Amino acid sequence: MKRITIAIDGHSSSGKSTMAKDLAREIGYTYIDSGAMYRAVTLYALQQGLFAGDALDEEQLEQQIDRIRISFRLNPETGRPDTYLNGEKVEKEIRGMEVANRVSRIATLGFVRRAMVAQQQEMGRDKGVVMDGRDIGTVVFPDAELKIFVTASPEIRAQRRVDELKAKGQPASYADVLENVLSRDHIDSTREESPLRQADDARVLDNSDMTVEEQKALLLQWYNERVNRC
Ligand code: DC
Repeated sequence: MKRITIAIDGHSSSGKSTMAKDLAREIGYTYIDSGAMYRAVTLYALQQGLFAGDALDEEQLEQQIDRIRISFRLNPETGRPDTYLNGEKVEKEIRGMEVANRVSRIATLGFVRRAMVAQQQEMGRDKGVVMDGRDIGTVVFPDAELKIFVTASPEIRAQRRVDELKAKGQPASYADVLENVLSRDHIDSTREESPLRQADDARVLDNSDMTVEEQKALLLQWYNERVNRC
C-alpha cells in the first residue's frame, strides 16, 4: 500500500497529539511531535544560560541554532517516541513548566522555525509519517496527502485540561485555565511567523462532542479513503 504524509494541525489542548499517536501506531507510521522540537530548543536555550529571567539572548541562540539536533526514538516500554536533544533523552524535561512558560516565545523566532522546519522535512522525506503541530499542513508539508485540522470549543478544551491537571494531582481553577487556553490561541493564531491557520485543503475535525474512540474511527476512515484514492 502506498505510504502517505499525514499532517495534523490544531489548537492547543484539542487532543491532537493523542489522536496522531494512536493513528500512527494503528497504521504503522512514524509519529513526529513538532511541538516537542520547539520545546527541546527552549530547553537548549535554558541549559546554555541564554535566558536571563524571561529575556532571551537571541543573537547567541541564532549563532548556535545549527548545533541543535532533535531526534525521536521509540521507547519500548511506553510504545511511544521519546524526544532527544543532541543525543540526550529530554522527554521529561521538555514537559516541565520552565520550558512550557518560554516555548511560545521561542516558537515565534524565524531562524528557529526555519531550522526546525528543515529537520521536520528531512524526517518526513520517505513518507509514512504522522506529524502534528501548528503549521504542518501549511508550511512543513504543503503537499501532504491528508491534512486534518483539529479543534474543539475553548470551554471544552479548558475543562479537559482541568481534568488532566487534577488527575496529575495539580488542581487548577477553570477560569485560569480558560484564560490560558484563550491567550495561547491568540498567540498561536496572530504571530507573524507561520501562524496557526487551517490549510485550504484540510479536513476539519471538531471533537467537542466526540469520544476518543469516535475520533479514532473517523481518522482511520479518512486515512483509508485517502490511501484508496492513491
Ligand atoms: O503542541 P505543544 O504545546 O507541545 O507546542 C509547544 C509550542 O510550540 C506552542 O507554543 C506552539 C508551538 N508550536 C509551533 O509553533 N509550531 C508547531 N509546528 C508546533 C508547536
